Order: sequence, then C-alpha cells, then structure tokens
Amino acid sequence: MGFSTTLIVNGVPRTIDLDDPRVTLLDLLRERLQLTGTKKGCDRGQCGACTVILDGRRVNSCLALAISHDGANVLTIEGVAQGNRLHPVQEAFLAHDGLQCGFCTPGQIMSAIGLIQEGQAGDDPERVREGMSGNLCRCAAYQGITQAVLAAQTTLRAVSRKEVA
Ligand code: FES
Ligand code: FES
Repeated sequence: MGFSTTLIVNGVPRTIDLDDPRVTLLDLLRERLQLTGTKKGCDRGQCGACTVILDGRRVNSCLALAISHDGANVLTIEGVAQGNRLHPVQEAFLAHDGLQCGFCTPGQIMSAIGLIQEGQAGDDPERVREGMSGNLCRCAAYQGITQAVLAAQTTLRAVSRKEVA
C-alpha cells in the first residue's frame, strides 16, 4: 500500500510518495528531496547533526516520521540564507570560528536559530551551552559555537529593534 505526505519545505509545498510509513523526515529530506545539508550522524537522536526546524521548533529529524507531520513547515539549512546573503547565524559561525570539519555545522546552525527564536539563550554563555547541548561536535569547536550564538543573538535583536522602530 502506498502513502504520501505533503510538507512545506523551505517555503515550497512538496508532496512525496512513500512506500513505507516508517520513512523518517531525515531520510525524506536527504534521499527523496536531495537536501543533503541536513546530516545523518548517529540516526538515533543523540548527536543533533540532523536538526531542522519543524513548525517553529527544533527537532532531530532522524526521530520524526515524515508521515506524522503531513502539512508541517520544515526549515532546513538550505532555506536559511536569502539568496547570496547568509543568515546572521551563518555569518556569526564564520566570524567566530564556530566550525572545523563542518559536519555538525548545519545542525548547530539550525539549533542556534531555534534557540534564539525560543528566547531561551540569554546572554549567559553557560545557558547557551546548555541550550545547544543536544548538538555534539567531534571537533570540539564549542567555544566558537557559543560565541557565535551570542553574537548572532545580539545582531538579530538589533534587527528586530530596527524593524519595530
Ligand atoms: S542523526 Fe539525528 S540526532 Fe544524530
Ligand atoms: S566542526 Fe567537526 S564535528 Fe563539529
């Protein structure tokens, strides 16, 4: 029996036929939509490499069944830049050396965007580290990652103040 699911991926509606209801959101993104920026690390919810924003919340896409989220909005790393303009979080990761090999970076960036949107980060590096603790980095670029999240948060706050003014 065939199944299908429709997701709004980076603002574009995509209907995907599935021959197995157990297909994860991660496999759907990578293998069916060729959005390979979302990485598969552990495939069991322990590393955060597969983080995407699903209906406004950070999730490990390796643990989400695609068919359970019919109609949902999914934001992946491919959808965060605006044309040639990087997202402030991407810029901050570059400016603060928040990466080395880069494997964990898409997940770190998506998680940072989610954390900032949640308003949970605060200005305390310890809280940022805690908020990002679901995202592992084998290169141990944690200091740069924390600095990048703090800097991006300051930039995004200034942007939203300008928009309100
Ligand atoms: S691949 Fe999903 S948490 Fe590791
Ligand atoms: S930059 Fe290499 S795993 Fe994080």
